[in-house]
Amino acid sequence: KEGRWIIDDRAGGIFKVNRDAFTSQEVFEQERSRIFDRCWLFVGHGSELKKPNDYVTRNVGGREVIFNRDRKGEFHVFLNTCPHRGAMVAREKCGSALAFKCFYHGWSFNNNGKFGTRNPAGVYPDDFGKDGSVDLARVPRLESYRDFYFINYDRDAPPLETYLAGAAEILDLVADHSPNGMEIVGGVQEYSIRANWKLLVENSYDGYHAAETHETYFGYLMKTIGDFDISQIQADSMISYGFDLGNGHAMIEGKAPWGRPIGRTIPVWGEEGKEAIAKVVAELEERVGPERAARIADRDRNLGIFPNFVMNDIMAITVRTFFPTAPDQMNVNSFALAPIGESAEDRKRRLDNFLEFLGPGGFATPDDVEALESAQRGYAASKFAPWNDISRGMLKEVPRGDDESQMRAFWREWTRRMEEE
Ligand code: FES
Ligand code: FE
Repeated sequence: KEGRWIIDDRAGGIFKVNRDAFTSQEVFEQERSRIFDRCWLFVGHGSELKKPNDYVTRNVGGREVIFNRDRKGEFHVFLNTCPHRGAMVAREKCGSALAFKCFYHGWSFNNNGKFGTRNPAGVYPDDFGKDGSVDLARVPRLESYRDFYFINYDRDAPPLETYLAGAAEILDLVADHSPNGMEIVGGVQEYSIRANWKLLVENSYDGYHAAETHETYFGYLMKTIGDFDISQIQADSMISYGFDLGNGHAMIEGKAPWGRPIGRTIPVWGEEGKEAIAKVVAELEERVGPERAARIADRDRNLGIFPNFVMNDIMAITVRTFFPTAPDQMNVNSFALAPIGESAEDRKRRLDNFLEFLGPGGFATPDDVEALESAQRGYAASKFAPWNDISRGMLKEVPRGDDESQMRAFWREWTRRMEEE
């Protein structure tokens, strides 16, 4: 079928995306109402709010929000805007607060959102605020799955779990890494990229580009690990597959070709690391059974939950979410997720890898950013070169991780939502 945005010719094995989707101001505005105001958006992980009264502030889907727990420990997401005249009532990135006090005129709010300012007599009516009309406004929907918290600006959206479809099982796989649960480590990495946000969606589960774009990293691996064999990576990536998880969610999953703090493939961390990892795997087998343990420990995965949540469960686990501020600009929030209570040695390896590979100054992200920004500059010529081709592997029954089926799953859902009546 040939449409305004995509050419989806299943029989002919051709799939194209119109480059206006990456550059148009009109698309940017429609995405706000048709996608970001309707889909479930990741707001944070439960471990970021360990104790009652903890809070973090962030921008989700273009709006400033407070993700917090009240005195009783209940989770909330409020819009970070004072009901008086709009100023943001929480101005720190994170903290612990029994109440939020607006710095502009001093209105204050209990951490369950209730207006709590005492009135001087005769200034406001005696019952001012008693009806809840000047409480902090709440994001319409907040739901969690395995400690991943998502919000929805659409009151009538389907439940989170329904929306997650096949992606729920993948969140399970990661949540099950540890008997003690998982935690976000060390805050948030924030950076901007001068490219359309959908370029980062595609890149996050693009198995096709890795060997080419990240050649330097693989060269470095070979140098630092004496007996590391690059052909092993190539051989192993042959057995990675692309999955359409429903509702625009997609993933690539394959045999992990590198050591991970939880895996047992090539022992790139030496004999000592090998022993520690064997212990982790033994516990895993005991707890979730050998089959599931093998899927968790021996395979790695890059998951995209439509529209803008990415989890790279590869060496370390990176969670990313991003939002466009213009057709050619996005802000990225990136987190490291790790098992609670893992050994200090494993945690060190994990964080080293988190910084070294997918960190904003690591080996992979700068390469990827260069590719994304380069594509964005290329789209200035879209009048004469209007289409991206993402047909790779389209005729196959079982697409591989270096095919482009996962991107097609995203684009079909994106188009459906953009064209919906
Ligand atoms: Fe917050 Fe006035 S804007 S008290
Ligand atoms: Fe990459």
